[in-house]
Amino acid sequence: MFRNIISAALLLSTSFIGFAQHSAASFDESTKVFRLDGGNVTYAFGVNVRGELQQLYWGGRLGATDRIAQAVPAREWASFDSSYTNTPQEYAGWGAGLFVEPALKVTFADGNRDLVLHYDSHEIASDGFNVILKDIKRKVFVKLHYAIDPETGIMARRATIENRDSQPITVEQAAAAAWALPAAHYTLNYLTGRWAGEWTLTQEALHPGERVIESRRGSTGHQANPWFAIQAGDSPNEIGGEVWFGALAWSGSWRITVEQDQLDAIRVTGGFNPFDFGYVLHPGETLESPVFYGGYSAHGLGGASRLLHHFELAHILPHRMGEGDAAAPKPRPVIYNSWEATEFNVSEEGQVALAEKAAALGVDRFVMDDGWFGQRKDDHAGLGDWYVNPQKFPHGLKPLIDKVHALGMDFGLWVEPEMVNPDSDLYRNHPDWVLNFPGRPRTEQRNQLVLNLARPDVRDYIVGFLDKLVTENDIAFLKWDYNRNWSEPGWDQLPPAEQKKVYVEFTRNLYAILAELKKRHPKLELESCSGGGGRVDLGILQYADEVWPSDNTDPFDRLTQQDGFTYAYTPQIMMAWVTDSPHDLEGQRRVTSLQYRMLSSMQGSLGIGANITKWNDEEMATAKRLIAAYHQVQATIVQGDLYRLISPRNGSEFSATQTVNRDKSQSVVFAFIHSTQEGRGYPRLKLRGLDPKANYALTPIEGAAQKGTPATASGAWWMNHGLDMSDDFKGDFRAAAFRLDRK
Ligand code: GLA
Repeated sequence: MFRNIISAALLLSTSFIGFAQHSAASFDESTKVFRLDGGNVTYAFGVNVRGELQQLYWGGRLGATDRIAQAVPAREWASFDSSYTNTPQEYAGWGAGLFVEPALKVTFADGNRDLVLHYDSHEIASDGFNVILKDIKRKVFVKLHYAIDPETGIMARRATIENRDSQPITVEQAAAAAWALPAAHYTLNYLTGRWAGEWTLTQEALHPGERVIESRRGSTGHQANPWFAIQAGDSPNEIGGEVWFGALAWSGSWRITVEQDQLDAIRVTGGFNPFDFGYVLHPGETLESPVFYGGYSAHGLGGASRLLHHFELAHILPHRMGEGDAAAPKPRPVIYNSWEATEFNVSEEGQVALAEKAAALGVDRFVMDDGWFGQRKDDHAGLGDWYVNPQKFPHGLKPLIDKVHALGMDFGLWVEPEMVNPDSDLYRNHPDWVLNFPGRPRTEQRNQLVLNLARPDVRDYIVGFLDKLVTENDIAFLKWDYNRNWSEPGWDQLPPAEQKKVYVEFTRNLYAILAELKKRHPKLELESCSGGGGRVDLGILQYADEVWPSDNTDPFDRLTQQDGFTYAYTPQIMMAWVTDSPHDLEGQRRVTSLQYRMLSSMQGSLGIGANITKWNDEEMATAKRLIAAYHQVQATIVQGDLYRLISPRNGSEFSATQTVNRDKSQSVVFAFIHSTQEGRGYPRLKLRGLDPKANYALTPIEGAAQKGTPATASGAWWMNHGLDMSDDFKGDFRAAAFRLDRK
């Protein structure tokens, strides 16, 4: 199955395995054309007369009998742009006068830096290929792996670089893949942000030159996310139009360049960030790139994200025992998290008080956040010392965990395994375990340093303490945090020329730790958190069941963040806690109703993060009612087809989303008012994705429809006529939600 191919790829296997029944991979010997078909997509490339691998087509699915002609290299443009640089190559070596981004750039031991990759051979499977390239003179081989998902047409591409020469080579730049589009007008979409301000959808016309989307931070980062979508035409369109999109599965420093080249064609190249990169390959050694996924939709940005959501659910996210090849993992438990209620001030008594109230609300999982371990009174000490703090929990965690279980919930715990406070026993014993350049300052952020996971002893230490923690305590879930970026990224155990390997080996060991933990504790679930959404990518998501999108839990800010998030990631993983009002992020002090906060969070995987010991009976009753209503429709919300009906971006007065489950038997609608102006009523919502011939009954979850709205009407009615809100749905920070059930 495709799923196996992906995991094989991510486990850095060099073999290419897997079989998919409805996708097709074919090679035409006479034209030297490779063709992949899956979903509504065809992708083709071929060997041109010079022997280069040249991209030929990426778009809507072509007829099975349509033939694609042999690749013809682009012509030279006067004497300045050679045919080599003008030809859209699948994986170009830097050499022979290449001025666009290379996929691979190396320096040989003798100082030669010329690399020209030609087709050598290939292996074919039913749903993909391995195509082997070789330098025209030297024994540098690159194996390009291709697979296509039969359902969504999303492709997985990666490269294995092998040095079969007798001298070492240094890889200075290595992409997973390069994608190409012909010259035309396009709009680029990408996601940017900062701490507490992640997931800003940036949309701009592509112009000549290069747009660089990247992280140099050692991990995925808040500043940009490794996802892009390019739409045909001069303006973005949610509903229609061709979109090519991609996402990189890597949680270390990464880079995606989107380039409009010298002849106005588009090249997208992504992989390891070449900044400060240098990976020495000794004779016989290989370097595996991350996987770069790429897809195509003819149905606008909405169509693109729906494909990506289903692909992530089916092929990226961990599937638990019994879920096998199911289309999606189970919806997430509704959690309670203690962070905003108690911060570091945790105690058995305080957590039990919160757990009792959480259970009364109908919460499924109780998570104790930071503060339970070592000498952790605040963020100055304790990271690295993963023993239960005896002052706060004199009898260990067992009494609390037993209580949580007795209340009918399972138990989760916060950890930040890759970090250390200088004020910790771990650092006092192993000052050499952190990323550092000897003799240079060790720059702290949040009073902490980064452990060098690339070191085998550090990797083993982390596996050891986590295994012990999870073995000794009945823990269902870890919130895995990572609260700073790198500085002074030295690895002084290695010879100077090899130290930059840290950029690759750190992330590989992170994945190895997560894989080992999952192997030893198959039921353990994980959340990827990095001060909010600093580590969300398709690499970490093969281990993490959910993510924390942002430390910003302001329910209004979250609407825009959640909107941006869903362009790249499924709502299934988008944790959203209801926290207290007024919400005080950076002094913002916004006051909102509990209903509004609940509905904002119900757009994703719901959690409660407020100090519920202070909630009155009415608040408890409202939250309980809405959690129960959420449970009934959760699968539709988090795994259905998402239609962003009205965007909250750019200060929009209104916003709305709708999800439809896969068999079109249920739909859920959310409607939000930012601030009514000039008395305007809420716009009529023309729903989407329903079965026009089926009848659907409308049930309010919160709020009401306009008087006279039919209790039951056809899908055609809801889509063509639309849904009107009640006349009194006006004001500031208002929210309504409805469900539609097929009769
Ligand atoms: C990070 C996380 C928060 C919380 C704190 C604890 O900021 O994003 O949710 O866990 O760490 O220190």
